Amino acid sequence: MSRSAHPAGPRHADVMSEGHYSAPPTDLNALDPNVWSRTVTRDAEGVAQVGGLDVLKLAEEFGTPAYFLDEADFRARCRAWRDAFGEDADVFYAGKAFLSRAVVRWLYEEGLNLDVCSAGELATALDAGMPAERIALHGNNKSTAEIERAIREGVGRIVLDSFQEIVRVAHIADRLGKRQRVQIRVTVGVEAHTHEFIATAHEDQKFGIGLADGQAAEAVRRVLKLDGLELVGIHSHIGSQIFDMAGFEVSAHRVVQLLTEVRDEHGIELPEIDLGGGLGIAYTSDDDPSEPHEIAKALGDIVTRECRLAGLSVPRLSVEPGRAIVGPTAFTLYEVGTVKHLEGLRTYVSVDGGMSDNIRTALYDADYSVALVSRTSDAEPMLSRVVGKHCESGDIVVKDAFLPADLAPGDLLAVPATGAYCRSMASNYNHALRPPVVAVDSGEARVIVRRETEEDLLRLDVG
Ligand code: LLP
Repeated sequence: MSRSAHPAGPRHADVMSEGHYSAPPTDLNALDPNVWSRTVTRDAEGVAQVGGLDVLKLAEEFGTPAYFLDEADFRARCRAWRDAFGEDADVFYAGKAFLSRAVVRWLYEEGLNLDVCSAGELATALDAGMPAERIALHGNNKSTAEIERAIREGVGRIVLDSFQEIVRVAHIADRLGKRQRVQIRVTVGVEAHTHEFIATAHEDQKFGIGLADGQAAEAVRRVLKLDGLELVGIHSHIGSQIFDMAGFEVSAHRVVQLLTEVRDEHGIELPEIDLGGGLGIAYTSDDDPSEPHEIAKALGDIVTRECRLAGLSVPRLSVEPGRAIVGPTAFTLYEVGTVKHLEGLRTYVSVDGGMSDNIRTALYDADYSVALVSRTSDAEPMLSRVVGKHCESGDIVVKDAFLPADLAPGDLLAVPATGAYCRSMASNYNHALRPPVVAVDSGEARVIVRRETEEDLLRLDVG
């Protein structure tokens, strides 16, 4: 998924010719600031620190595996997105990337809005005090209970995903005596350059209402006839971990075309356009993501240009970054348990977590980086595969990475850029206990999601 260079290196030439990974980095101890969260450094002894706290102390206090989330970095990224898009646009953080009550409060304080896609996310958002009007509800199969709760609470918008849902939401709004602000999610027919499972704007998939076959225009007709619904805009999300702005350009063009058709047919100009999330982040040093101000300028320019050409007033733009905000702000800390050398092949380094805390490598063939963080080392680079402790050979955390050849049980490894879609997709496979999320800031660490315990597991198992 991420873009990797494939130069060959000096060791294990037979495996290297498969070309799945980069050459060994010149400095194995370096922590690339494009991949690690902003406050990560090494202290004078070579121990990595985050938020002014060293990982040895963090591991001792909170155990491993654990996610450490750099609060200052998270807030800085929120502000960067907010400032880049300015007052005439809205930034909705996509809660599916990672959501907790602390995160909701940070979002609220930093002026962001919030996308939720389930009753659980909605409950978390409301419980932590996010005003309902700043929340949007998504999902291709929202339940009646989810829709009802959202309307009762007064969420700012519901993003309609199907013809059945148009009727369902209208019916529930009528029953509650409310008029609900809605957008229609359209599939614009863009092939996003990302993994098939996280591309969402081509037509052959479950999300949204097709544009090309006239279904979206028909959806607009139906929504406009229903008193319980107030149509405020059109929504498009083309996929995730995308680096190329060309897909957004096509998406904006097609959405504006629909707005033009709506004006011509119904004599109304819809006031909002939402281009979704999906902006890529750096998982390895080979990835080169755009900055929020570049993204804001590119999207703003596209929408403005398309609207001018169509003679439409420019609608209020919104975006929904999840990964681009939380992804780079956290790393997962693991302890090495066993090291198995396969001469002429690679070394398997087993850590105390795995696919239960990061399913992305197994599911999407995702690339990650990894570093020895409890010390530095001058040993030569060793081609390694970092694997978990689950009963599956696909239980891989980092497919191919160079680690120092003196790596030993008890060393601490950290995998950066695990803030998005790791804790939120964590499982109890093999009855693993899901790791805690610890927020770190200015020399203080605070558990924001605690580690699961055996009691938690057994409490659900009611016999
Ligand atoms: N808006 C909508 C409507 C979405 O469906 C998504 C993600 C986002 C925004 C946020 O996308 P982001 O900026 O985080 O890329 N589990 C996959 C990613 C699935 C994304 C689903 N929708 C992964 O780990 O890569």
